[in-house]
Amino acid sequence: MDLDPAMASIAGFPPASSGPEDAPSALSLVGVSKTYGTGAARVPVLHDISLSVPAGDFLAIVGPSGSGKSTLLNLIGLLDRPDSGEIRLDGLSVGFQSRAEAARLRNRLIGFVFQSFQLLPRLTAWENVALPLLYRGAPRAERRGRALAALENLGLADRVDHRPSELSGGQCQRVALARALIGEPRLILADEPTGSLDTATGATVMDMLRDLNARRGTTIVMVTHDPDLAGRCASQIEIRDGRVQARRGAAA
Ligand SMILES: Nc1ncnc2c1ncn2[C@@H]1O[C@H](COP(=O)(O)OP(=O)(O)OP(=O)(O)O)[C@@H](O)[C@H]1O
Ligand SMILES: [Mg+2]
Repeated sequence: MDLDPAMASIAGFPPASSGPEDAPSALSLVGVSKTYGTGAARVPVLHDISLSVPAGDFLAIVGPSGSGKSTLLNLIGLLDRPDSGEIRLDGLSVGFQSRAEAARLRNRLIGFVFQSFQLLPRLTAWENVALPLLYRGAPRAERRGRALAALENLGLADRVDHRPSELSGGQCQRVALARALIGEPRLILADEPTGSLDTATGATVMDMLRDLNARRGTTIVMVTHDPDLAGRCASQIEIRDGRVQARRGAAA
């Protein structure tokens, strides 16, 4: 397989055993700001965001379209850098490291479900799902076996050998979710993970995330437009015009 390393690095690795075990929170942001563009094209997106998410929390991020939710998730997921402020993951200061270091940390700690899926077009569904295991060095039989099981769980047993262009939006979303989960990361960042799904499939996806959160203590940060889903998460923050407007639950 020939893979673009930048794309490949989003796949996510299993948690490392070397991280500090007594970290006070899974994730914290202090005074994080982000502006896109320069000069007349300057778009200030996030203003002085501070947030502390305890390990094991299930946090929903809500807010209007364009309020900065995906930008915030990209910063937390080390896919972009803040202009100022501090981001800590598992007690480790992150956010200003090199691309290679960001990729290494991301692979070690984070499973990311993108709003736009970010599946690799030349790979089949199962190969996309198995990427985190490929970078871990798992043998092909194990990779395929585990990817097939993950896809079957999400109702895609009959689509494992299809490429993303041959799948519907909801099917791509489930493939992206399976890829984020398969490496069993400590932190899952999910941008509208049920956005392209029908009610029943969306409920299945939420059940999987809840189960992971309850059983493994995986910290989950999920962007959603659905107030019902957000209301059932342990914590919730609302972003408006790039500022945290309201908070509920353990995340402070
Ligand atoms: N790379 C970029 N360059 C310039 N502006 C950007 C860039 N990415 C995002 N923006 C702008 O930043 C603002 C926040 O975008 P973001 O994608 O974070 O919103 P969002 O809350 O996720 O919206 P949605 O609910 O529609 O997904 C928007 O006004 C968007 O146009
Ligand atoms: Mg978004």
